[in-house]
Amino acid sequence: MVPENVIREIEASVGQEQVLTAAEDRWTYAFDATEEAHLPDLVVFPGSAAEVAAIVRLANEHRFPVVPRGAGTGRSGGSVPIQGGVVLVLTRLNRILEINTQDLVAVVEPGVILGRFKAAVEEQGLYYPPDPASAEFCTMGGNVAECAGGAVAVQYGVTRDYVLGLEVVLPTGEIIEAGTRTMKGVVGYDLTRLFLGSEGTLGVITRITLRLVAKPPARQTLAAAFGTLTAAAGAVSRILASGLAPTALEFMDQVTLKCVREMLPFKVPPQAAALLLIAVDGHPRDVEERAGAMARFCEEQGAKPVLRAKTAAEAEELWQARKVVSPALKKIKPQKVSEDVVVPLGAIPDLIAALEELSQRRGLVIPCYGHAGDGNIHVNVLYDRGRPGEVEAVEPTVEEIFVLVRGLKGTLSGEHGIGLTKAPYLGMELAPAAIALQKRLKQAFDPNNIMNPGKIFPPGEKAKDPRV
Ligand code: LAC
Ligand code: ZN
Repeated sequence: MVPENVIREIEASVGQEQVLTAAEDRWTYAFDATEEAHLPDLVVFPGSAAEVAAIVRLANEHRFPVVPRGAGTGRSGGSVPIQGGVVLVLTRLNRILEINTQDLVAVVEPGVILGRFKAAVEEQGLYYPPDPASAEFCTMGGNVAECAGGAVAVQYGVTRDYVLGLEVVLPTGEIIEAGTRTMKGVVGYDLTRLFLGSEGTLGVITRITLRLVAKPPARQTLAAAFGTLTAAAGAVSRILASGLAPTALEFMDQVTLKCVREMLPFKVPPQAAALLLIAVDGHPRDVEERAGAMARFCEEQGAKPVLRAKTAAEAEELWQARKVVSPALKKIKPQKVSEDVVVPLGAIPDLIAALEELSQRRGLVIPCYGHAGDGNIHVNVLYDRGRPGEVEAVEPTVEEIFVLVRGLKGTLSGEHGIGLTKAPYLGMELAPAAIALQKRLKQAFDPNNIMNPGKIFPPGEKAKDPRV
């Protein structure tokens, strides 16, 4: 709990209107995009790094949790204040401070909406590639804290590959600068990368320096329908090895397709068991040639038909349909667990085949879609809390998925993070010595464990060491 006198102190430092105390207001900040929720004791909207630091110092003194939050679009419970405390909503820090076309660098505050930033950069003739499905709503701070990915990572990489430097309020209240504004830099340990994907457990990001690239002059989009899911999955690594250099290589299975079919700009035949969505970026003539070659290559792999977006608007419709897949799956069942496992590219067909078997054996609908070109598959376990047996089957099914993925030499999370939902499974990927080292790092940053406690590390360990 945050004591009353501390609430008054926080109100005095940020302004009373920037603090929510009523339960109905606080509930609004209890959730993210998972099924998890927990009521915070207080919601605060700081207006500067100095205000963040003041709250963090109070948290150290009075030992209450501080949970940074952007737009709450996270998919692993990262911003859910599972142990109560203060939710620090960073949406007031929403300035694009600089877009420098000479340095190819931008500086933003954490509350800037990604889509707004991408558009502003493109207006200047440059490009900021990361494009998670939530781009129109999610914030830059959350993108950094979770190391967001998205569809164009095949060519351009993920958020980690664009962050040059950060300003961070440490859990002890000091404000530090990590990284550089330059394209290279090896001065000391790479703290910037340590913050990438640290899920709000190591500090509060208050400023971000980003690398920009040239805006690709042209992009073409294709959709290749396959008669079986394994044929589509098998084509993925061959497309990547073909030299046709896709910018995005996404897939949707039949259930997924059904949920967004009416949003697609063209008719996909009902017998299609899977769709590969492919984008190619580059100079117009090169793109024209590669898109044609890609269509032929997909046909050779058994795709039929291969549809090409004829206009930028059609391509946009196709990508929009892809972006709403996750919420659209709720048309089938009211609840879902949405995973983001990654397997080596050659193992995608094995994963898909094993998931089909698992779905039949467990009697659960497990649609798959996602960033096939990265081996990053969104495996969704759908369920209905109201149906006897379904809820109970979810956890063992998720565990079986993780066992399967690890058996294929894959990783539990490619872009959504560990947060709350995957914390119990951390030991399936990291050895005890690696977890112990990570905990020592956490302790070095955050000796009183005030920053987003209860995340990443398995909950069972809490009793053993209350500090981490
Ligand atoms: C997507 C989100 C779930 O790719 O990561 O749709
Ligand atoms: Zn994704």
